[in-house]
Amino acid sequence: MDLKERLAQFRAEEQRLSWEGTFLEYFEKVKAQPQIAGLAHARVHDMIMSQGVSTDEAGRKVFDFFKHDIFGVEKPLEQLVEYFNSAAKRLEVRKRILLLMGPVGGGKSTIVSLLKRGMEQFSRSEEGAVYAIKGCPMHEEPLHLIPDELRADIYREFGLYIEGDLCPACRQMVQDQYGGRMEDVIVQRIAFSEKNRVGIGTFTPSDPKSQDISELTGSVDLSTIGQYGSESDPRAYRFDGELNVANRGVMEFIEMLKCDEKFLYGLLTLSQEQNIKTGRFAMIYADEVILSHTNENEFNAFINNKKNEALKDRMILVRVTDLQTKAAGVRPLQPFTRSQ
Ligand SMILES: Nc1ncnc2c1ncn2[C@@H]1O[C@H](COP(=O)(O)OP(=O)(O)OP(=O)(O)O)[C@@H](O)[C@H]1O
Ligand SMILES: [Mg+2]
Ligand SMILES: [Zn+2]
Repeated sequence: MDLKERLAQFRAEEQRLSWEGTFLEYFEKVKAQPQIAGLAHARVHDMIMSQGVSTDEAGRKVFDFFKHDIFGVEKPLEQLVEYFNSAAKRLEVRKRILLLMGPVGGGKSTIVSLLKRGMEQFSRSEEGAVYAIKGCPMHEEPLHLIPDELRADIYREFGLYIEGDLCPACRQMVQDQYGGRMEDVIVQRIAFSEKNRVGIGTFTPSDPKSQDISELTGSVDLSTIGQYGSESDPRAYRFDGELNVANRGVMEFIEMLKCDEKFLYGLLTLSQEQNIKTGRFAMIYADEVILSHTNENEFNAFINNKKNEALKDRMILVRVTDLQTKAAGVRPLQPFTRSQ
């Protein structure tokens, strides 16, 4: 290996990813390539489909994205991709939390981790490029700068669907730094990275008594609150919870059913209304795919508990099992209903 050459390649690659421009320039990009402003579920679907899909002898779909790492679960994978396909079209399933359920060691974590790594790579490609308002703690979609009043016209003229409002930090930044001139706001290309806490989040339940909701939704920054005088000043708030971090991408919720209810209800609000309730602020818009998983025992205990009915209705279950060994089969992709 020629180290000098490889380092130069690496720098060139980083350079390629470091686009910066005004909101007006970004808007030109979106007009030319609307999928760069796609919502999270559509992005995941684009990512999977970008690798190609074929049909095997048994007539099942084989997704190249998964085919080297995970075997014998074609049907669940088909259901999973169908979920993303429907959610990408903003059908009702988008508002439900995806729950992978299956036997211990059955590949649930593997699937989620493939999707997370896949999103990191895809965001570095041209077709999967992601752009954000520079300085936004939630790296939000720049199209949020467009006022509600103009959105219908934008949709009519360019076919661009815009969902969500500026976060409190950006709203203040647009006033303070740009004097309200949205068109001048600086936009930058971002790369998803779990390590850098951009676009990929993970939440692991721990002791419910000590685990704080701020792990999900961020918290007041006690070191700056004196400076800004109020808890409702966005500059005194850290939008650094896992849900904030995962905006635009995916958030893994490990062993979801082990979690305390207060966390689950926060998740429901997010998946149903694309909103996070944070501190002293009004709801904050967020757009992300929640990938949760659980094993069969936890799941059975959960569905047998009457208290969980409301939650059950709001999830989409994909049963991850090997059809060859589990003749029990896979239920079609559907929300669990009260009768189950
Ligand atoms: N269908 C599969 N194809 C290929 N490898 C698999 C499959 N299922 C599981 N494995 C392998 O088995 C190991 C355990 O899988 P994984 O951790 O994804 O299971 P899990 O469903 O998350 O289990 P747990 O309930 O214990 O969390 C991994 O190394 C994974 O690569
Ligand atoms: Mg696991
Ligand atoms: Zn913002």
